[in-house]
Amino acid sequence: MAIIMDGNGRWATRRLLPRAAGHKKGVDVLRSCVRHCGERGVRVLTVFAFSSENWNRPADEVSSLMELLAGALAREVPQLKAEGVRLHFVGDRAALSPKVRAGLEQAEADTACNDQLVLNVCFNYGGRWDIAQAAARLASRGESITEASLDSALALAHVPHPDLVIRTGGERRLSNFLLWQAGYAELYFSDKLWPEFDAAALDEAFADYASRERRFGKTSEQVLPAGEVAG
Ligand code: IPE
Ligand code: IPE
Ligand code: MG
Repeated sequence: MAIIMDGNGRWATRRLLPRAAGHKKGVDVLRSCVRHCGERGVRVLTVFAFSSENWNRPADEVSSLMELLAGALAREVPQLKAEGVRLHFVGDRAALSPKVRAGLEQAEADTACNDQLVLNVCFNYGGRWDIAQAAARLASRGESITEASLDSALALAHVPHPDLVIRTGGERRLSNFLLWQAGYAELYFSDKLWPEFDAAALDEAFADYASRERRFGKTSEQVLPAGEVAG
């Protein structure tokens, strides 16, 4: 599953706090969410932490997000490692500072042997960037561009496409997240802001997902288990 963790800024502003305080709280909520996903048997969690477009925010907010990432890695990686979480950072690293880049590489190396839950953190990520970099990579190798070859050149080729994409914060848009991979995902929108998205809210999303009928282009009759009648 995948999550667009939106609403940190509004959560902070409503409490007369600086936006950075909302992002900080957002990291704590992500931490609990990873644990809860592990308990519920989720094997792959992909979260949107910083988009290609988020560079357009005020410079002090961008730098506080970079510092938050570096701090969270230093603090959380040992425990994530103990919990069997394997970290991957997905996105364009070229624009990140050498310090942040080194932190990402270290966190990936430290958790590389884990296999309980894969946590993909999309940072300086955009779905358009991913499709373009995949196509450029294939072109540079002289390979033809097919759905299968493009799929395997994407930055998230190491995991299956998500079944469920959750967006918190009330907006009903993808904001350039997983444009290719979410093509057949079930979408779930919550009006809760990310810092208030707790275990109960996550379970509500799972229950809603369980009630969906996934047809993948077929008819309802074709996908119903034998003996059940379409209602
Ligand atoms: C999501 O929360 C976190 C990032 C984009 C980094 P926002 O910061 O977008 O929060 P709102 O949407 O302004 O409330
Ligand atoms: C999407 O949220 C990016 C992340 C959650 C990291 P935004 O808050 O940046 O999205 P828009 O700009 O409102 O669409
Ligand atoms: Mg937002």
